[in-house]
Amino acid sequence: MKKDFLSIADLSAKEIWQVLLLVKKLKQRNANYFAGKTMVMLFEKPSLRTKLSFDIAFNQLGGHIVYFGSQEVGLGKRESVSDVAKIISSMADLIVARVFSHKDLEELADNSKVPVINALSDLEHPCQALADFLTVLEVKGRLEGLTLAYLGDGENNVPHSLVLGCALLGIDFRCASPKGYFMKKEIVQKAKQIAKATGVNILETENPEEAVKNADIIYTDTWVSMGDKDKEKRLKIFQPYQVSQSLMSLAKKDVIFMHDLPAYRGNEVASEVIDGPQSVVFLQAENRLYSQKGLLIYLMKFGRKKF
Ligand code: NVA
Repeated sequence: MKKDFLSIADLSAKEIWQVLLLVKKLKQRNANYFAGKTMVMLFEKPSLRTKLSFDIAFNQLGGHIVYFGSQEVGLGKRESVSDVAKIISSMADLIVARVFSHKDLEELADNSKVPVINALSDLEHPCQALADFLTVLEVKGRLEGLTLAYLGDGENNVPHSLVLGCALLGIDFRCASPKGYFMKKEIVQKAKQIAKATGVNILETENPEEAVKNADIIYTDTWVSMGDKDKEKRLKIFQPYQVSQSLMSLAKKDVIFMHDLPAYRGNEVASEVIDGPQSVVFLQAENRLYSQKGLLIYLMKFGRKKF
């Protein structure tokens, strides 16, 4: 029985907590969990933090990595997605994939005998969200009862994973985006469904001031994600959503600023905010290493699928 991680909601709140608690232990020591194991990394898009942290995490846990960049495998072009999944999973123990289309990821997972981890797709970035929740827990000492305000491009992998994760973990979620750039409806529906059990409030608005009022966390992401084509239009339309010091001052006094990086200073965030004392962006980046170690160990416990 294998377990994939394509969406943050592939883990229950209890499982997310189990991963985060594993992380606490792992911060203190390395272990030889993965001696003799191989992880394949299949990346259709560029990466700094994700590639670095998965590679280092698997190595520190005693395993071996094979990395394929965008020019190599030709997922769904040079070779069908299902063939790629069957071949890799016949030899390796885990697949970490960064893809343009979430559908390819699902097809990869359906045809793989070993766990598939979403290292970013057009729909979600669940590994980033795991590191984000770890960061919030470390800085704020709790998750439940906090309010996270996300500003900018709502129809985007990062807020999609955040809203689902917040719904699971008891964090109120607000998203301020211009018309036409709200979160995908199916994601919001799923998050609202989860929120029924946790009592989380989910707000979508065009008004950035409304979103950040009394928030504990202000989060933003690039206005132009990998694969987005309408760059000039976006840079204009998103201007009112820049996280500035004056927007930060409408939130709680101890508000923190978060960003998954890479950041474009002067666009989605002012330099004085991202480089200022309320910013935790480098802790977020470093926490990718620890949260993914926890995730890898957790998923590997479930083993392989038998066809
Ligand atoms: N939304 C961004 C995240 C980068 C880590 C993108 O998809 O390019």
